[in-house]
Amino acid sequence: MKTLDINLGIDSYKILIEDDILSRLSFYIKEVYKNKKVYIITDDTVKDLYLDKVINSLKDDYQIDYVVVPHGEQSKSIEMFIHVCEELLEKNIRRNELLIGLGGGVIGDLTGFVASSLYRGIPYVNVPTSLLSQMDSSIGGKTGIDFYGRKNILGAFKQPKMVLIDPLTLNTLPKREFNNGMGELIKHGAIGNKKLLDLLFDKPRIDENIIAESLKVKRKVVEIDPFDQGLRMTLNFGHTFGHAIELKYGYKHGEAVAIGMLMAIKMGEDLGVTSKECYEPILKILKLYELPVDNYDYHDYLLDVLNDKKNLAGVVNFIFLTKLGECTITKISEKEIKENLL
Ligand code: NAD
Ligand code: GLY
Repeated sequence: MKTLDINLGIDSYKILIEDDILSRLSFYIKEVYKNKKVYIITDDTVKDLYLDKVINSLKDDYQIDYVVVPHGEQSKSIEMFIHVCEELLEKNIRRNELLIGLGGGVIGDLTGFVASSLYRGIPYVNVPTSLLSQMDSSIGGKTGIDFYGRKNILGAFKQPKMVLIDPLTLNTLPKREFNNGMGELIKHGAIGNKKLLDLLFDKPRIDENIIAESLKVKRKVVEIDPFDQGLRMTLNFGHTFGHAIELKYGYKHGEAVAIGMLMAIKMGEDLGVTSKECYEPILKILKLYELPVDNYDYHDYLLDVLNDKKNLAGVVNFIFLTKLGECTITKISEKEIKENLL
């Protein structure tokens, strides 16, 4: 068992990572929840795989009800938010009763947002089942849905009471979904944990140790910058160029981040910020996990980066590696990009 304490004052919580923790959920949930009724939110795929197991592990201690939504990003919608809230109210949920999100990042974000809104806030526990959600989205309290054609545009910061991670659930994850998570996992190693990169070179099973090492990188950042006002943007390493190619070429997010990291390393090298020792190891590790490493020249995407809505007041915050396991934020003005870099 690996335990991580996320220290955020009264919103502090624990992340527990252990094989087969799904069979022992109520033992741990009892630490943070004393009432009788729990409501599980899950998707149809995860329901078929794990809902019975989860119900079995809770049924001696809790009355259980559940809401199932279709799998996939389309469930992070205002319609599904309304549907889940209506179902829960129909089931007569009270403000001191617990939601449990069982699923990938979509379920975590949706459940957390419902938990932040219903009765102005009810408790929730996250049980992430995809690699992306286990090593990234389950920590940091960002919740929300897509709206107005934009991702995560309605949301709230809402910390869970506890996060319970069972690495064995990764055994059923489709390969492309697994790779999607690996892109972000390698990113965590690259920006903040050289030891994690070294471990990954041996292509180990993604177990509690690897997941904990990845979460430690994000913990360090979200404890300092819980509301995404500065340092947290370092988690966007590989995303600046990744976003520019993701939709254009139909990559999954983690795949685009893999390519975006290589583009950012090249740019960082050219600006003298990134050590020449970064590119080859990151390329090697991405290939090892069968992530795409297509070679795009970053110069060709700088205009897309400038047009990205995230870039405010004519200044772009680029995240560059300084060396393996360390990164920095470099502000570059639109003027400088246009005059010197295009
Ligand atoms: P997802 O929740 O859609 O899961 C991917 C697919 O895998 C789904 O079809 C799901 O049913 C299936 N699945 C999940 N666990 C499984 C398992 N154990 N076995 C078999 N199938 C399983 O997507 P995701 O990649 O987990 O998460 C992506 C979402 O996370 C995006 O909406 C993104 O915006 C969000 N996100 C949030 C944060 C945050 O900080 N809140 C960070 C990164 C990403
Ligand atoms: N995924 C980036 C963040 O949580 O801030």
